[in-house]
Amino acid sequence: MKLRRWTAVAAVAVATVAALNALPATAGRPYDPTAQSLGTLGQRHGLHIGTAVDMDALADPADPRYRELAASEFSSVTAENEMKWESLEPTRGSYDWGPADAFVDFARRNDQRIRGHVLVWHNQLPGWLTSGVADGSISREELRELLRNHITAVVSRYRGRIWQWDVVNEAVSDPWDTPSTLHYKGFWAQHLGPGYIADAFRWARAADPKALLFYNDYNIEAFGSGDPADDKTQFVYDMAKRLLAEGVPLDGVGSQGHLGTQYGNFDTLQVAAALKRFSALGLATAFTEVDVRSRLTEGVQTGDSEEINPRLQASAANFSVLLKACLADRHCLSYTVWGFSDRHSWVPGWFDDPPEGLATLYDERYQPKRAYQEVKADLIFAGPPYVLPRATHRPRR
Ligand code: XIL
Repeated sequence: MKLRRWTAVAAVAVATVAALNALPATAGRPYDPTAQSLGTLGQRHGLHIGTAVDMDALADPADPRYRELAASEFSSVTAENEMKWESLEPTRGSYDWGPADAFVDFARRNDQRIRGHVLVWHNQLPGWLTSGVADGSISREELRELLRNHITAVVSRYRGRIWQWDVVNEAVSDPWDTPSTLHYKGFWAQHLGPGYIADAFRWARAADPKALLFYNDYNIEAFGSGDPADDKTQFVYDMAKRLLAEGVPLDGVGSQGHLGTQYGNFDTLQVAAALKRFSALGLATAFTEVDVRSRLTEGVQTGDSEEINPRLQASAANFSVLLKACLADRHCLSYTVWGFSDRHSWVPGWFDDPPEGLATLYDERYQPKRAYQEVKADLIFAGPPYVLPRATHRPRR
């Protein structure tokens, strides 16, 4: 870029950020960014900082701190389970909207944006659906119709209230699956073929013209070999490119961001490069389910600080890698953590052999961990010329 263009870009950036940073000085007290919530600090960049919400914890009168933090610290929320098909339609033909409605009301009361999660996934499907397909009483045509009706019912009910919908979740296999060549996996691909993906986006768009429609998956934080046979990120990238070429209303790609400190993981530049490749397709991106778990070794469980400290530090570093990469790309619209406290995290329940945990920003007593401080510091210290306010994304027709 020519120097003159750089100067112009920088001038715009400085002016914009100056406007965003024009915070009211409280009489006599200097502005203290460390006292602000993550959600407020994200606003400087137009970036939404979100959390998954556990509705049981939210309703627990004995756990007020959960409610306080869920309401005050984040500017976006995702229902951890309440918008999944098994929760919404436990019995065929009768929707139970109660818990999902309560979640949407919570977000509205707290002025939070909503990531809708999830319309099409192979997990947490109602028993009547999977058993009906298994025993042959639901045919392929009927299954496709059921999916269309489900998407239409859910998206219509919350039309205008959802910022980003996870339309399709985890459609692509992993290198450790069989066959190891990457492929479309799971219930829907098996019973409808991969064409369900394009259908799902079209049906969702028809029911809400204003929501941003996302494909969401894990292990797509960075590119690997570049061979779509064994590079999941490349496979998803190729899929997104093809969907766009076919005119499918795909607006964004969500990278879940479930990491573990026992793995190699990625550095900020690798992750930033991956986000930039997706946004170069014209897509928005988002981190949608960030947590960074660790093995709960015997030493960790008995409180050995030599075992605990490196894990907490590595966890913080990985939270920070994903956030910095997101900050660096104007098309990365939100950064959502999958639960904010070790008191309510899916990790110990799901990764129990060997046991894992310590995956979130706050400990079990809601004390902010090092990861929280690093995330906060990243939001405070980031600015132009490399960190610019978010770009505007409009739903694709
Ligand atoms: C998890 C929830 O956190 C658990 O409470 C539930 O028992 C299982 O599902 N990827 C996703 C999320 O897209 O929906 C999953 O949530 C975590 C992995």
